[in-house]
Amino acid sequence: MIEIAPSILSADFARLAEALSLAERGGAGAVHVDVMDGHFVPNLTIGPPVIRSLREATGLPLDCHLMIERPASWVAAYADAGADRITVHAEAEPHLQRAIQAIRDRGLRAGVAVNPATSLDVVDEVLPELDQVLVMSVNPGFSGQAFWEPAVDKVARLAERIRDRGLAVAIQVDGGVGPATIGRLVAAGATRFVAGNAVYGQEDPVAALRALVERAEGASR
Ligand code: DX5
Ligand code: ZN
Repeated sequence: MIEIAPSILSADFARLAEALSLAERGGAGAVHVDVMDGHFVPNLTIGPPVIRSLREATGLPLDCHLMIERPASWVAAYADAGADRITVHAEAEPHLQRAIQAIRDRGLRAGVAVNPATSLDVVDEVLPELDQVLVMSVNPGFSGQAFWEPAVDKVARLAERIRDRGLAVAIQVDGGVGPATIGRLVAAGATRFVAGNAVYGQEDPVAALRALVERAEGASR
């Protein structure tokens, strides 16, 4: 099942309600919320109060991507704010399983993200506990960056590991995803996609999102 989650990082922060409405009309499966702390990544974005407002403004699941150091200690705050899925970075948390357990204990779906330079080995031990692995196809911090091509092969290798172990973990890809890359990523085994610039950077975000959903679904058949 294909899920495209528009990233509101590329939207106008003064008009987030409108961004949510565009996502709904374009067929989004979730809304991707990029949380950055200015330490783990060189950018600072939004936190729990904004997520609480987003929660009240849409029925779409909130897919929260925490690009913050030591995320385990922040899980409760993001769960209280209304996150549906919380993805933490393997590089940012020495006690990764503790973070995953904290997310699951709150009844939420847990994900682990890996940066381009991070080996897939870091998720091996916890794979059965995850709803998704997020393969970063840019170095996190900003929207609108160029797609890191080796991510396609990384997705394929991860899909093979998941299949070999008989698991049902989804593969999400984030960074530079658009019409030129999504088909190959679906073919490699990813089913969930984050799209910032490819949606909100376009003249008609609803049409752009619809076209992306169609392209991904076409490639998965
Ligand atoms: C990057 C963020 C992404 C970003 C994607 O650090 O995690 O979610 O918003 O934006 P695009 O699709 O423009 O690369
Ligand atoms: Zn993201």
